[in-house]
Amino acid sequence: MTKTSCISIPETLEMPTESFVVPGCYRDDLKSVIIPEGLIKDRVKRLAQEIHAVIGDEPLVVLCILKGSYRFFTTLVDDLTVARHSCASPLQIDFIRVKSYEDTESTGTLQIMGLSSLDELKGQNILIVEDIVDTGTIGDLGAKKIWTSVLLSKRVTRKIEVAEDFVAFDIPDKFIVGYGLDYNQKFRDLNHICVMSDSGILKYKKT
Ligand code: HPA
Ligand code: MG
Repeated sequence: MTKTSCISIPETLEMPTESFVVPGCYRDDLKSVIIPEGLIKDRVKRLAQEIHAVIGDEPLVVLCILKGSYRFFTTLVDDLTVARHSCASPLQIDFIRVKSYEDTESTGTLQIMGLSSLDELKGQNILIVEDIVDTGTIGDLGAKKIWTSVLLSKRVTRKIEVAEDFVAFDIPDKFIVGYGLDYNQKFRDLNHICVMSDSGILKYKKT
């Protein structure tokens, strides 16, 4: 794991939501802000430089794992494009959807959709872009080379070994939302990464 520049968010760092702009409809559903949007943007700029320094001028498919990574993905691709300004090899993007969470628990089954076939990725250099890694991730894609970039890595015991080549932040074991990450499909539009309040978890609970 290239965790050299990863920022570790301490267990105790919880900032008041009143100090930030959050949609009014969510204010009571959130306990605190743990990573403000500005910090994410600054960190991803540097992460893009680190990724480029390792991968270099190679053809690259950047694979967005929907839905949670959509914001991290667009920010990272923008910053990678700047880092790759003098590259001769093209960058392509693709999207797949992997769904496993209901309420705050993983259902254990991964649904993969988006590509007509995972064979499309065979023989390519792939940079997987994931929002969060907690207990596990997707398996073998038959690619030439695969790197994984992760916005958030939870400090929990992994059930299976997970590749995390480029990590923006590691965070405490708390259920978080925002910057693309959801709780039962809500909160993706929240700009900052926040910890939910107990009442928020109850309000949008499905089961
Ligand atoms: N929040 C949202 N989605 C998630 C989380 C989380 O903490 N962990 C895994 N998927
Ligand atoms: Mg989710």
